[in-house]
Formats: sequence, structure tokens, C-alpha cells
Amino acid sequence: MKDKVIIVTGGSSGMGLYMAKRFLKEGANVAITGRNEERLAAAKKQIGEDTEDRLLLISMDVRNVEDVDRMVKETVRSFGRIDALVNNAAGNFISPAEKLSANGWNSVINIVLNGTFYCSQAVGKYWIENKIKGSILNMVATYAWNAGAGVIHSASAKAGVLAMTRTLAVEWGQRYGIRANAIAPGPIERTGGADKLFESEEAAKRTLQSVPLGRLGTPEEIAGLAKFILSEEAAYMNGEVVTLDGGQWLNQFPF
Ligand code: HXC
Repeated sequence: MKDKVIIVTGGSSGMGLYMAKRFLKEGANVAITGRNEERLAAAKKQIGEDTEDRLLLISMDVRNVEDVDRMVKETVRSFGRIDALVNNAAGNFISPAEKLSANGWNSVINIVLNGTFYCSQAVGKYWIENKIKGSILNMVATYAWNAGAGVIHSASAKAGVLAMTRTLAVEWGQRYGIRANAIAPGPIERTGGADKLFESEEAAKRTLQSVPLGRLGTPEEIAGLAKFILSEEAAYMNGEVVTLDGGQWLNQFPF
């Protein structure tokens, strides 16, 4: 990863921040994006001074195409190129489908599905123009193909992102050598998703019981997988989704 340039959207907290830290440790230049400037500044502080010169903070909203355009320009201006894009920015909340407002539906679809497309298209256009064989990594969830009871907006958006991953893997893979893959994390500690799942003691217990390995995943484990998928070692991986959930989604009939 040395000297590679990687954009991580939603990189100021949770899995995004851990991926950014890992990529920096591997010698990459990393641009993290986020909507909240204070959280971006806090992320920079946490990342530390050692790698500060290889870190770029971009205050933006993936729902806004002008912001996305600026993200590409600022990254290229600072680091000279872009090699990889991690579409990690997400929004989610628990709501019964029948109670979800149109605004609530739109807000998650706009962040997860539309935001992922805007970022992928903007970075993809830059790669095509500059003949760069870049790599896209999308963060989905196992409910992209399974059921996401209570999160119909997120499940529908992630299913779309998975279709987008496979479509771009074929369309841009055969024309431009651009790869697109996805990670489907299960419940991962120290993330916004886990905080939501652990709002009540009962929900926390249910979650832990649903994972055959009996524990949450760690953001470091996600970062390690992300690093592998973006590396040359995975150069032949394209259109794949790798699940990292301790076997949770397969656990239909607990033994
Ligand atoms: C019901 C809600 C709600 C809630 C928001 N809304 N939160 N409805 N229950 N808890 C409704 C609002 O009432 C409003 O509709 C509409 O959604 C938009 O709300 P805003 O707050 O104006 O939206 P916005 O500022 O755009 O915020 C987006 C967000 C927010 C998604 C709602 O939660 C967010 O920014 N989250 C980012 C961080 C995050 O969620 N990370 C976790 C990702 S985890 P009305 O009709 O009232 O106007 C993940 C994977 C989980 O994705 C995997 C688990 C295994």
C-alpha cells in the first residue's frame, strides 16, 4: 500500500476510521471524508502526528454531487492521484417499515445508495480519463441478500450497493481493469451500527447469541480484510462480497 492514495468516505469514526488508520500504517496517503468538521478534527488528533502529512480531511456530504466532485479534486491536488475508494459512509436507524416516513426512507437511500453511486462515478471517471486501474470497496451488510427486519431502508440500499458492486466489476472491469468488491460486516464493536444494536441489554444479548463465535467482530479485523482486498494480493478478486460476521447470517437454526 506504500504511497497509494485511498479515499475513505465516512472516515472520521467507526470502521472508516480504523480502515484509515490501517492504510496509513501500511504507508498509504489517505483522504477521509465526513459531514462534521469537529469529528474530522478529532479523528486527525486520534490518528496522531506521525502520519499527519499523509492524511487529508475533507468536509463533505456524499449526498451532494458538488461535494463529491470537490472530494476528487482536493484529493488529486493534495496527493497527485487516487488509487482506491472505500464507500463506507452510511446512515441507519431502526424503524418498523410501516412507520418509516418518506423523509426517513429518502435520507438513508440518499446516503447509502445514491452517495455510493455519486462517489464511485466521480472517482471512476477520473480513473477512466487517467487510465488508472483503481479499486472500489463498498461496505454492505448481510441483509443486502438476507432480510433486514427493522431496517428496510438500509437493507434496500445495501442490496442496491451490492448490485452496483457487481455491475461495476463487470462493466469497468472489462473495459478499464477497475475492480469493485464489497465487505459485509456483521456486528462490529466500537461502531455506530453496534451502538444501535446495543441500545438495550436484551438486544445486546440477542445479538451475541446470534453469532456462532459468541462475540462481536473488531474494526481492526474489518480493516485487515479491507487492506487485503485493496492490495495486489487480491488483484484477481472482482465483484466479490466477503462476509465477516462470525457466521451470524448462516445461523438459522441455532444448535
Ligand atoms: C425514526 C427517524 C430516526 C429514527 C431519523 N429519522 N432518525 N425516524 N427513527 N431513529 C427520520 C427523521 O424523523 C426524518 O424524517 C428523516 O429520518 C431524516 O432525518 P434527519 O435527522 O433530518 O436526517 P439526516 O440529518 O440526513 O441524518 C441521517 C440519518 C442519521 C441516517 C437519519 O441517523 C445519520 O446521519 N446517521 C449517520 C450515522 C449512522 O447512522 N451510522 C450507522 C450506520 S450503521 P421526517 O419525516 O421526520 O422529516 C449501518 C450498518 C448497520 O449502516 C449494520 C448492523 C449489523
